[in-house]
Amino acid sequence: MGIVVLDFGGQYAHLIANRVRRHHVWAEIRPPDTPLEELARADGLILSGGPSSVYAEDRPPFEEAVLASGKPILGLCYGHQLLCHALGGRVERGERMEYGAASLEVTAATGVLAGLSPREPIWMSHRDRVEEIPPGFRVLGRTEDCPVAAMGDDGRRIYGLQFHPEVTHTDSGMRILDNFLDLCGCERDWTMEGFIDRSMDELKAQARGRKVFLLVSGGVDSTVCFLLLNRALGTDHVLGLHIDNGFMRKGETAAVESLLKGSGFSNLKVVDAGAAFLARVAGVADPEAKRLAIGEEFIEVRDRVLADLDLDPDQWLLGQGTLYTDTIESGGTDHAEVIKTHHNRVGVIERLLAEGKVVEPLSQLYKDEVRELGEKLGVPHHLVWRHPFPGPGLAVRCLCAGPGAGHEAAEPLGTLDGSGLDAELLPLRSVGVQGDGRTYAHPALLTASGAAILPGEEGGPSWDDLERASTELTNSTDRVNRVLFQLGPERRLRQSPREAYLTTERLDLLREADAIVMEALDRHGLMPRLTQMPTVLVPLSSDGTSESIVLRPVTTEDFMTARFGRLPADFLREVTARLLELQGVEAVYYDVTHKPPGTVEWE
Ligand code: XMP
Repeated sequence: MGIVVLDFGGQYAHLIANRVRRHHVWAEIRPPDTPLEELARADGLILSGGPSSVYAEDRPPFEEAVLASGKPILGLCYGHQLLCHALGGRVERGERMEYGAASLEVTAATGVLAGLSPREPIWMSHRDRVEEIPPGFRVLGRTEDCPVAAMGDDGRRIYGLQFHPEVTHTDSGMRILDNFLDLCGCERDWTMEGFIDRSMDELKAQARGRKVFLLVSGGVDSTVCFLLLNRALGTDHVLGLHIDNGFMRKGETAAVESLLKGSGFSNLKVVDAGAAFLARVAGVADPEAKRLAIGEEFIEVRDRVLADLDLDPDQWLLGQGTLYTDTIESGGTDHAEVIKTHHNRVGVIERLLAEGKVVEPLSQLYKDEVRELGEKLGVPHHLVWRHPFPGPGLAVRCLCAGPGAGHEAAEPLGTLDGSGLDAELLPLRSVGVQGDGRTYAHPALLTASGAAILPGEEGGPSWDDLERASTELTNSTDRVNRVLFQLGPERRLRQSPREAYLTTERLDLLREADAIVMEALDRHGLMPRLTQMPTVLVPLSSDGTSESIVLRPVTTEDFMTARFGRLPADFLREVTARLLELQGVEAVYYDVTHKPPGTVEWE
């Protein structure tokens, strides 16, 4: 059946299952106290790392009978210490901690370490360590600070590693996992084609002739889910609903519609609710009030459509594009929760959920696997690899300002030591996150000696200078939660905010700007280097009519923290020039703020 990873709370547990699957072996994550009977079909078990100590009273409960089950077992980090403790060895608090890169001296290249070199770069993260190995084991490797970095009992096929083979910094990590899968006798038959076949059978069995309703936002998860459901159940048994809230990217709704309908899926209903959404946010400038209004409108539109369709609840199931990371407790981000609340947990749909009428065909997959599945199902490459896009869409990237905004002016903050960059406080505010709380403070604008010279260019600041200046500014005053650098025009403008709300005109301008940025990013091959790149319209103006654009490239693994991206000068020069040609755009800025203190989105 494959491998079960028992999750003791380690931050890498997801990676372990993901890496095993890359060896074409099925792997799933289960809690550590899963009873032995439920593990009967596993070919082998991996005990993950975790924050506990094996001596702690509140360590996670664990079914020790598992250790005598005869199945091959691999313990990693905490799992390694747990094996030692439970099988009669001794674990102690180390005098020194060992975090990050280390060098493993392989003293016996056998078992899971078969084929490794005498010295291997590995990744460590621990303080407790194995001092005495259990009876029947022998030491297979050590590091300078850890005398038992690897141990094994070839007879029982039980191995423990203090280090992390699942992270890419451990050079031979994939080889080690491969060895373990061989020891388990796993079949290498987990393929996406196999998954598609099995899913189709399972979906048919679950649906038992009933139909499935699904919201299709146009993102990769819901699109792939829609295609899979159609394949399994047939188009007459699936209904997709796409709500155009008027805050989509340029041509997005049309692209979703033409992709799906062009592929023969006439069972997609598209509702243009743009006018209703705009009416709801008319005259609203406060970011939270905007979000709330949009969230409420979304629910109303969806429930209205569902009521109009008058679906027989006995005949309809609800489909959702939930991923594996959302289904296990430790997975998912705050925002994943928000998305679920907004889209999937209200009104009519809540009733379906309560009745157990929910189909989630992607619930066993990781994001990279959903992308692979998307490619296999023929979803176009650019859609499969697209950056995530928030539910409220461009509405949270189009800043508004209420009456009286125009009286404020920028405030000079002086020249920063070291970099020679001039700083000033801009008269508008954006959302940030500092400590555990939300902030709503000003951006500071950096310019190189009053002129806009691109980072990395002759006479321009270095990225390191900008990063240092950004950190210094946000750390030194709570009036600043974000830092910008001026890309163009070359001279500094005297700007102040102008009163502005969400209007078709401003949204169209932002749509155009976003399309220019996305197209150039793609053409320059920069898309995969970033996780996301919002383009933001801010009502900062020198003439009372034009506005400014901010580029916000970020890289992040989990969206809780992020680094600003560093993009090449030729890309920035081209994009800045094209944005400045847009009627109504007078300045282009680059957001050089990490998260924290700045959130990814400006609102
Ligand atoms: P922040 O701005 O909080 O964003 O750093 C982190 C990630 O969450 C996305 N995001 C949202 N997604 N509905 C969504 O579907 C929302 O209301 C929402 N707000 C932020 C954001 O795009 C980024 O990927």
